[in-house]
Amino acid sequence: TGGVTTIDPGYKNTGSCESAITFLNGEEGILRYRGYAIEDLADKADFLEVAYLLIFGELPSKEQLDKFHSDIKAQSHVDEDVKKILDGFPKSAHPMGVLSSLTSALVAFNPSSVNVDSEEDMYNAIVRLMAKFPVLTAWAYRKRVGLPLDYGDDNLGYVDNFVKMMFKKPSGEYTPNKVIVDALDKLLILHADHEQNCSTSTVRMVGSSHAGLFVSISAGIAALWGPLHGGANQAVIEMLEAIKEDGGDTHKFMQKAKDKQDPFRLMGFGHRVYKNFDPRAKIIKKSADDVLDALGVEDPVLDIAKGLEKEALEDNYFVDRKLYPNVDFYSGIIYRAMGIPVEMFTPMFALGRLPGWIAQWREMRLRKEPIGRPRQVYIGENHREFKSLDKR
Ligand code: SDX
Repeated sequence: TGGVTTIDPGYKNTGSCESAITFLNGEEGILRYRGYAIEDLADKADFLEVAYLLIFGELPSKEQLDKFHSDIKAQSHVDEDVKKILDGFPKSAHPMGVLSSLTSALVAFNPSSVNVDSEEDMYNAIVRLMAKFPVLTAWAYRKRVGLPLDYGDDNLGYVDNFVKMMFKKPSGEYTPNKVIVDALDKLLILHADHEQNCSTSTVRMVGSSHAGLFVSISAGIAALWGPLHGGANQAVIEMLEAIKEDGGDTHKFMQKAKDKQDPFRLMGFGHRVYKNFDPRAKIIKKSADDVLDALGVEDPVLDIAKGLEKEALEDNYFVDRKLYPNVDFYSGIIYRAMGIPVEMFTPMFALGRLPGWIAQWREMRLRKEPIGRPRQVYIGENHREFKSLDKR
């Protein structure tokens, strides 16, 4: 065979590494970051604290958290020439493509982020990316809606500063909306890491060649974009809108999914690991009710989502396949209530997942993991004699 004798498509039964960062139990719907339950972290911690926990392994003391935040703030500028690259994109460019490109482009302005072998070099590259990625994310949005590319305010918290960069009007004061900041902080925590999912495995694979942190993350952003992965949060809202436009008949759509008619997937349902409720979906569903109430937003697609969930949980096709709502099913409803456009939903996922990707990349490098290079089962032609052009 010239390779191996068996393969494992999608690595459904393959462990790629040892990791001490995130623990999942798919049967029981358990998710822990460095041993702490996601329910506790979502309720009691803030996003930057959880980012520190994931990356460095411990909940930070106040001094450690303040230093981490001030090191990040010291790097929260992006070279003005990056705006010229952003200018080159059409307004219609999908923000995930823009973010993957700009994250890669950052290398040119931060060459020290490439050959990071010492822990100190890694730390410097990490705080640079934690600082600049929110700026790029906000700029990708502002470019789409024709607003000036601006900075927030280093006196604000990490998430509050991001919200200001996103929504601050060119004229007039920015009044922080605590409901939005708190809800986004919780959503980012819930998205922060998820062991060896598709995009994290991509970050590890690219990072294993020692290509550098920024391009490894850029590759992770590309992988997350797919509708089977992080792109599902955008696809869920598009699906719910389609059902609403079609008169709100969830049963008809369920039937299409069961008959595997295109687009047969019930977006936001199913998971490779969770064969029970995704614990994040439970928290987000509750948060959706709270946030929409607090913002005084009525969104008919929330009722459609709940109707779809109820019907699926009582339908053998979904129950037999253990298809439950996942992290992407309700998150878009909250983003929308916040005024975040649907094309920015997956960038929000990326903003949340950034510390997890960084933590996994750092662990892979500190453990000196070998370069990723799987084998194959060859199914092509046997040896053939070459034929010159005039004989073909
Ligand atoms: C994320 O891995 C992670 O941890 C990811 C993530 C993270 O935090 O990083 O949790 C984030 O990506 C969540 C998942 C977002 N994706 C979606 O919501 C897209 C819809 N979901 C599916 O595409 C699917 O469920 C996956 C991709 C999530 C998982 O796919 P698997 O494990 O490869 O399962 P499969 O495609 O082999 O399906 C098994 C069966 C099939 O039916 P049969 O062939 O056995 O008859 O279940 C069916 C599938 O057709 N099925 C679905 C379905 N998902 C699976 N049928 C209808 N709707 C769905 N959503």
